[in-house]
Amino acid sequence: MYNDFAKIYDRFQEIDYDEFVDFYKKIFAENNFYPETVIDLGCGSGEISLRMSKSGYKIVGVDISEDMLAIAQDKAFEQGSDILFLNQDMAEFEYPNKADAVISSLDCINYLTEYEDVEKTFKCVKQVLLDGGLFIFDINSEYKLSEILGNNTFIYEDDDAFCVWDCGYFPDDKICGFELNFFVKTAESRDGKYDRYFEYQEEHAYCIDEIKSALSEAGLNLLNIYADLKCETPIETSERIFFICNLPR
Ligand SMILES: C[S@@+](CC[C@H](N)C(=O)[O-])C[C@H]1O[C@@H](n2cnc3c(N)ncnc32)[C@H](O)[C@@H]1O
Repeated sequence: MYNDFAKIYDRFQEIDYDEFVDFYKKIFAENNFYPETVIDLGCGSGEISLRMSKSGYKIVGVDISEDMLAIAQDKAFEQGSDILFLNQDMAEFEYPNKADAVISSLDCINYLTEYEDVEKTFKCVKQVLLDGGLFIFDINSEYKLSEILGNNTFIYEDDDAFCVWDCGYFPDDKICGFELNFFVKTAESRDGKYDRYFEYQEEHAYCIDEIKSALSEAGLNLLNIYADLKCETPIETSERIFFICNLPR
């Protein structure tokens, strides 16, 4: 997962990363909380890590994909950002020091298709957080996975790449499968030919109650649930649900 796809991940992302960083800062301020060290769980190609680092936070990025981390590391080097990247599975991750906050952006938690791994991840978060530390993460809602993505196909293209993203939702398993067929023209490609790649990914649709149970099992305290980067309660058609949690003092 996120191996060859890392080659084109940034190219076709239609995400306003600044909005995410502003949202995190707003949540920190609302909680009178001014973290120093922040762990970015599932940091991917580093867009949020880099922005947070530029804002003055000490960032540790964790991701299971070596290819995504290699891209993040290159960007950090080019931009002169001092970020520690760790290649770890978030369900088992360890950090020898304590962090003031942990963030996880863009449905990383949905990629944990086993509920047990969500619980394990939250327990790892508890281990690294300082007392009173914040944990902010989002999930794709079941509505988004089943109705917006599920059984739809999306096409992305630019001069050097073409990607077909085919999604299928399986309600019995609450799994949304993504078939990613993509074609990339590289500097080495000859005669204008494209290299073809295929990757299959799955996201699990978790309901709010399941996430609440996993947080409580891990000993984390749920402060608020928001939707779609606004400090508003989720509704039936919310697509991204944010959980604001802390480790009780
Ligand atoms: C949709 S991307 C989001 C990346 C990044 N947070 C961003 O905002 O662009 C999901 C990321 O989660 C990572 N991921 C999925 N499962 C993981 C796991 N078990 N442990 C750590 N990272 C994981 C993937 O490698 C990928 O980089």
